[in-house]
Amino acid sequence: MPFDPISKAPISEMSVMPNLVDRDEAAKGFEWTDMYSELDWLPDGGLNKAYEAIDRHVEHGHGDKVAMIWAGKNGEEEIYTFSEMKAQTNRWANVVTDLGLGRGDRVFIFMDRLPELYFAFFGTLKAGGVVGPLFSAFGPEPVRDRLQDSGASIFLTQPELREKVAGILPECPDIKHIIVVNKDRRSSDDLADSDLSYEELMLDASDDFGIVSTSMYDYSIMHYTSGTTGKPKGAVHRHLAAVQQYATGKWALDLHFDDIYFCTADPGWVTGTSYGMMAPWTNGVTNLIYEGGFSANNWYDTIDKYKVTVWYTAPTAIRMLMRAGEEPVKNHDLSSLRFIASVGEPLNPEAVVWGNEMFNQAIHDNWWQTETGAIMCANYASMEVRPGSMGKPIPGIEMGILDAEYNLLPAGEDGLLAVKPGWPSQFHAYWNNSEMYNSKYKKGWYITGDQAQMDEDGYFWFQGRSDDVINTAGHLVGPFEVESALIEHPDVVEAGVIGVPDDIAMEVVKAFVATRPGVEQTDALRRDIMRFVRTKLSAAVAPRQMEFIESLPKTRSGKIMRRLLKARELGLPEGDISTLEDD
Ligand code: PRX
Repeated sequence: MPFDPISKAPISEMSVMPNLVDRDEAAKGFEWTDMYSELDWLPDGGLNKAYEAIDRHVEHGHGDKVAMIWAGKNGEEEIYTFSEMKAQTNRWANVVTDLGLGRGDRVFIFMDRLPELYFAFFGTLKAGGVVGPLFSAFGPEPVRDRLQDSGASIFLTQPELREKVAGILPECPDIKHIIVVNKDRRSSDDLADSDLSYEELMLDASDDFGIVSTSMYDYSIMHYTSGTTGKPKGAVHRHLAAVQQYATGKWALDLHFDDIYFCTADPGWVTGTSYGMMAPWTNGVTNLIYEGGFSANNWYDTIDKYKVTVWYTAPTAIRMLMRAGEEPVKNHDLSSLRFIASVGEPLNPEAVVWGNEMFNQAIHDNWWQTETGAIMCANYASMEVRPGSMGKPIPGIEMGILDAEYNLLPAGEDGLLAVKPGWPSQFHAYWNNSEMYNSKYKKGWYITGDQAQMDEDGYFWFQGRSDDVINTAGHLVGPFEVESALIEHPDVVEAGVIGVPDDIAMEVVKAFVATRPGVEQTDALRRDIMRFVRTKLSAAVAPRQMEFIESLPKTRSGKIMRRLLKARELGLPEGDISTLEDD
């Protein structure tokens, strides 16, 4: 019988036994350093995420185990063992090293979920670089902002995405090399003269590479995230995050060595790297990468075909599945599923109840953020799920609810959700923005930007955001970013952006727009402005609704009063927010 290399427990036994049997017991006296011995570390004491996710399984004799099953959008299938992943990531590490990538240099990847994305991701880490994956649905402006801010020197993309952002690339002078993946020659486009071909570079590269001995404190991955003000900020994570990503894979997703795991998030967002790559692979699990987009049938087909056992998804997707109804569930054999989890937005109790009816099990909600790098609070396999709650903090994490002066509140009161700093996957900086980074810490707490409540038993309940950030289908949207794109339209003079409730996506982006004097506010103009913003940003971020307004309510210092716009939109009393006028 195969044994788990870490716990040494027989695998069949582990499959029926939750990894975290008693959370409260496990949390007592727990120190994160207790987990260090479960990773392998480099011979000289360094820590590298790529080694922990891939190479160490080869060292432990699991080189032939399937690491990645790639299900392409056109029905293609590719399978890679841990040994093959090791070879491919070594090749990429050699490619970027030969191109002059130094320790800490940034490689940004703007790609669909193709296997090459995953090779480049880990290969960059092996070479000592910092990797920044970008959501392939982004339009040119978010890509430009991120490339400029990060100073990325290597940009990896694919033909149609390169074409989409061709206009902004000359505005990113730090880029030294543009490398294009033309998978299976899907595109007949010729390479631009200055571009390099991924396939040619990889063909010439050796599959032998000595991993750069990064320290646990070295930077590894960055993800841009939106706040209320300014452009998105690059939250930077360290190699040390691997410890918590590994631990939460076991505890909150209940991963066992013989699982087939499916995470539906895109690597352009943090869930797609922390849980689409790090958690499954540090746990040595077979990871299914599905290239296609959402469709109830395709997702169920995929789960059925590959006998997925653990599935990590998001509330908007679950609500879309609910809308698709029972029929597609009945048409598939989904009995392989043994654990389902969700993150990114509040998971409404109806969705938990529906999950129970459809899949004979609860959907386990958990909570975390780009900045936390890994799950902080979860409903575990071993504990009773309270529908609507995000569960309890994982061992080693202290969460609290604070009042407006950042003092701890007792159970049962609404307040600011905060975390005691010092967890392994804690972000270590906002790139180039120490002021914003420092502003997140108050009286010894990290302030999350969420409002929540803790009940008498220590379960946490999400209440809402405490800022103007919009959560649409699990994607955080900074209103400032959308407003900036709107006012670039020649007929727009000012714009205010808020989130309005939506049955499926939780919130959708709504814009209020004031136009130049003399411009007629027609339907055609409204459509033109919405189209204009969509091509700049992405459909995920651009407003779904737009209303013309004479002028926007502002504070005396000129700040747009989004809360007043929202109160008016939702018919709430404006008095609630009158203090903002003295801002
Ligand atoms: O507002 C919370 C919401 O998503 C935010 C984090 O988003 P992001 O940085 O993009 O990270 C995504 C990775 C999880 C949080 O501040 N959020 C996340 N999980 C939940 C949630 N809201 C309610 N319930 C959750 N389980």
